[in-house]
Amino acid sequence: MGTTTTSAYVDIRALAAERNAVILAHNYQVPDVQDVADYVGDSLGLAREAAATDADTIVFCGVHFMAETAKILSPEKTVLIPDLDAGCSLADSITADQLRDWKAEHPDAIVVSYVNTTAEVKAESDYCCTSGNAQAIIEAIPADREILFLPDMFLGMWLERVTGRELNVWLGECHVHAGIKPEHIERWQSEAPDAELLVHPECGCASQCMAFGNDKTHILSTEGMVTFAARSPKKRFIVATETGILHRLSKEVPGKTFEAASEDAVCRYMKMITPEKLRDSLREERYEVDVDPGVAARARGALERMVSIG
Ligand code: 13P
Ligand code: SF4
Repeated sequence: MGTTTTSAYVDIRALAAERNAVILAHNYQVPDVQDVADYVGDSLGLAREAAATDADTIVFCGVHFMAETAKILSPEKTVLIPDLDAGCSLADSITADQLRDWKAEHPDAIVVSYVNTTAEVKAESDYCCTSGNAQAIIEAIPADREILFLPDMFLGMWLERVTGRELNVWLGECHVHAGIKPEHIERWQSEAPDAELLVHPECGCASQCMAFGNDKTHILSTEGMVTFAARSPKKRFIVATETGILHRLSKEVPGKTFEAASEDAVCRYMKMITPEKLRDSLREERYEVDVDPGVAARARGALERMVSIG
C-alpha cells in the first residue's frame, strides 16, 4: 500500500462496509486499487463474483464492459464504476450494427463474442467467452456448426490452432496486446533463454509463440498466469500482457521473478481508476452503470453460458 494513499485506503474500507459494497478489481488495476479490493481477478473470475455476490453494491474497478457485464448478471444490484471514461479499444472495434450485418451474411452461424464487447453486441450473441474459457466454449459447440468469433483476431487465430476448427474471425484487436510484437519475444528468448514465457492470447505474437512448439511458452489468461506460476518449479517468468498483472504475480507468488515482455504494455483505460476516484465513487455513489433492460435480457443468456462453462 503506497503511503500517500493510506487515508484513502481507510476511507474506502469504511465506506464499503457502510454501503455493504463489494470492490472488484481486474488484474490490470494499479497496485493501490488491487490492494484495497475484496477480490482481484480476470474477467471470468470477476463476472462470477459479480453474479454470486450478496452485497448491495458492486464497485467495479476495471473497464466499462466489465461493469456492464456485472449489471447484466446482477440486475438488482447497484453497479458503480469510478471513472466512466474507462473504455476498451477492443470493445470499440465492433458495433451491434456491424454484427447484425455480419450475421445476415452467415444466417446459420453461432455467434461467440469475447466478453470485451458492449452490452448491445452481447445481445446479438449466442455465447460470450473470456480468455479463461474461450477454448472450452468453442469445444462445447457442435463441430458441424459455423462460428462467427469476435472481436479479437489474435485470440481467434489462437483458438483456430488449439481447437483445430475453422472460425470466421472479426479483425479487431486490443492496442495494448497487439503492441507486444514477435521482436519483444525474440529479444527475451536470447537474453533470458531459461525463463518461462507467459503469453496472453490477445497478444499480436500469440500465434507465433505457439509455433515455437517449445515447453517454455504458455498461452494463458491473466488468472491462468497466476495459477501456472504458483505451481511451476521454475523461478523466472517473462510476462506478455498488460503490466498490471506483475503486482499480483509478485504478491501471490513470492520468491520468483516476473518481468514484462514489453514495459509499454500499459492500458490507459485500466489505469484511469485511482484509489481517490474509488473512494469518491463509494462516497457519492457514482457513476452508476445501467443497461437497458431489453438489451440486458437478450445479453443475459450468452453471459450465463460464459460463467457456467470452463
Ligand atoms: P482477462 O480475460 O485475462 O482478464 O483479460 C481481459 C482483458 O481485458 C485483456 O486485455
Ligand atoms: Fe481493452 Fe486492451 Fe485495455 Fe484489455 S488491455 S481493457 S482489451 S484496451
